[in-house]
Amino acid sequence: MIITPSIRSNVFLNAHPKGIQAYIQSLFNEAETFKKFRGPKNVLIIGGSSGYGLASRVALAVASEANTLNVSFEGAPSDKRTGSAGFWNNVYFLEEAKKLGTKHVDIVADAFSEHTKKEVIARIKKDFGKVDLVIYSLAAGARPNPQTGDLVRSALKPVGEPLDGDTIDVATKTLKPLHMDAATEEDIQNTVYVMGGSDWESWITYLDQENVLDQGIKTISYTYVGSGSMDKIYRAGTIGRAKDDLEATSLRMNTWLKEKYQGESLISSSKAVVTKASVFIPGITSYIACLLDVMKEKGVHETTLAHKHRLFKDMVYGDLRRVDHLHRIRIDHYEMQEDIQEATLNKLNEAKSNIVDLQGTHDFVKEFHHIHGFEFDHVNYEEDIDLNDFTFDHIDLTLL
Ligand code: NAI
Repeated sequence: MIITPSIRSNVFLNAHPKGIQAYIQSLFNEAETFKKFRGPKNVLIIGGSSGYGLASRVALAVASEANTLNVSFEGAPSDKRTGSAGFWNNVYFLEEAKKLGTKHVDIVADAFSEHTKKEVIARIKKDFGKVDLVIYSLAAGARPNPQTGDLVRSALKPVGEPLDGDTIDVATKTLKPLHMDAATEEDIQNTVYVMGGSDWESWITYLDQENVLDQGIKTISYTYVGSGSMDKIYRAGTIGRAKDDLEATSLRMNTWLKEKYQGESLISSSKAVVTKASVFIPGITSYIACLLDVMKEKGVHETTLAHKHRLFKDMVYGDLRRVDHLHRIRIDHYEMQEDIQEATLNKLNEAKSNIVDLQGTHDFVKEFHHIHGFEFDHVNYEEDIDLNDFTFDHIDLTLL
């Protein structure tokens, strides 16, 4: 089949395997230029197939020579479907990581399920012994509730009042108006259930019970604080409630991890970047487009990968940690600089409907294509791809 981008409501329905190979190669090439540092040895990543989880995995595998076990929920290719970008990211990560001489394992399964947790722990015992870092980088739209049998869906909505805004439609490169109703109490509870801290806590509790956490264990999850301009939809919205819960969970876990393992539980507020998840948050697309321009102009732009490398090198394992009054690591400090925020908001106000013409919007749209394997110069997109030609026996990837 000839694979061309198929996008609906800012969601890619397909991915290009050869393009993803080029993308993963570019991440490894970039990571090779990073400074090495003494970091973790055995890392469990929950949600490491794309975005911040993948960036964490590549940065740690290359710059800290860590072994990694990644759990992610991705679609494998079939007769009619190309498979998801995250699936191919896992495949090419494993291929590329073979050159590192360290151990890398992928389990493709629902991280929320008890069965997955059991299987992952069995693999840790068999292949790693114990883990000394657990990264929880899940961005999920739904989580099954085993008590009721229901699939609980998160809702990205404002709390209290409805909101009118707009979003960049990636397929047509136009600005689309967007109206969002205010969240109901149920929407809030559901979003906290899916994106809050309870599943992270159950992973850590389970890993502890099974005695696979090493002395000095660290665990980290990612939040977003933002400057206020995105407050209505983010921190003061349903997702903000979920992040409050995630952050409170971290503080709770920190107390006992410290006591039992001299370990720690961390939250890092990361900068807004282009990932699969970021486009689901209304209004954030225009903000990121303007932010990209401003951070480049002011010389403080970092790629998603460089951002995570600096997080682990300087602020998790190094002595340059910046924390706020809520004990969150503030690796997002460049984005939060007053001059950056002011210039970003000015650009946002000035550009209005011309936002699609900004360089930042072009960069945003291009990066969004890249993370799905499209728009790489040296990939032949005319090539007829037979998905049956791909085999996975040579890599350590299990589909549960
Ligand atoms: P992403 O969509 O790129 O990656 C999400 C990961 O979660 C993927 O590996 C996916 O397979 C996995 N996943 C989803 N449901 C799963 C399930 N049921 N079982 C196993 N794996 C599952 O998301 P992104 O943007 O990297 O987000 C990761 C975290 O970073 C989230 O907590 C997000 O709130 C946070 N964050 C993101 C920012 C951004 O600008 N994208 C900014 C600051 C924080």
